[in-house]
Amino acid sequence: RKVKGPVGPLAGRKVLITAGPTHEPIDPVRYIANRSSGKQGYAIAAAAAAAGAEVTLVSGPVSLADPDGVTVVRVESAREMLTAVEAALPADVAIMAAAVADWRMAEDAAQKIKKDGSGKPPTLQFAENPDILATLGHHAALRPRLLVGFAAETQNVLDNAASKLTRKNADWIVANDVSPATGIMGGDRNTVHLVSRDGVEDWPDLAKGEVATRLVERIAFALGARDA
Ligand code: CTP
Ligand code: CA
Repeated sequence: RKVKGPVGPLAGRKVLITAGPTHEPIDPVRYIANRSSGKQGYAIAAAAAAAGAEVTLVSGPVSLADPDGVTVVRVESAREMLTAVEAALPADVAIMAAAVADWRMAEDAAQKIKKDGSGKPPTLQFAENPDILATLGHHAALRPRLLVGFAAETQNVLDNAASKLTRKNADWIVANDVSPATGIMGGDRNTVHLVSRDGVEDWPDLAKGEVATRLVERIAFALGARDA
């Protein structure tokens, strides 16, 4: 039997995706985390694999099964996520869909923090986590040719997304409004705006799988155009 290589619009392309939250330990029994189901990032990984790409998905803790045909690297913290992302380079495309915790504890607590009986809660000291998207955006040697970030905002969605595009040196930002009134967080649908240096494209309300398929189509088109 003749073995065929991958076929599809992303055949031969390496795609790196982050998804899910990160967990930052407070002590051995507690952590801080962002709200993220991982569904959108996993859907993008599945769509990219279906389009023939060689996909690495670096995933924070989520309760989702590995998508078919995708190499999944599971991590907990932002710093572990950055290490795994850098280990997966080079990539043609990187899509940073993870909801990375902005802060971790400034110091590791080796022991469980105990109530001291005074009734006064402890004060936690935070340190800022590395920005994985910005690290890739400013990578001298290994910046992916197409770098896509996400921006989940509760206000000034498009302005905030545009400033993230510039600050992190991304090519596109997929922006969405996650204010509680939208009820979007954790659901199966998403209403996004594709923000690039050329302007903003408003996409209709779509299932997360449809957002993924459209994004993958746009990526294949953009890479094709860049090859020509
Ligand atoms: N991101 C990242 N590493 C971080 C923080 C964010 O890679 N430490 C990525 C996210 O995966 C996403 C994009 O940056 O693709 C925007 O994340 P967001 O949290 O909206 O941006 P921040 O720069 O953290 O700004 P904010 O203060 O609004 O949280
Ligand atoms: Ca953030």
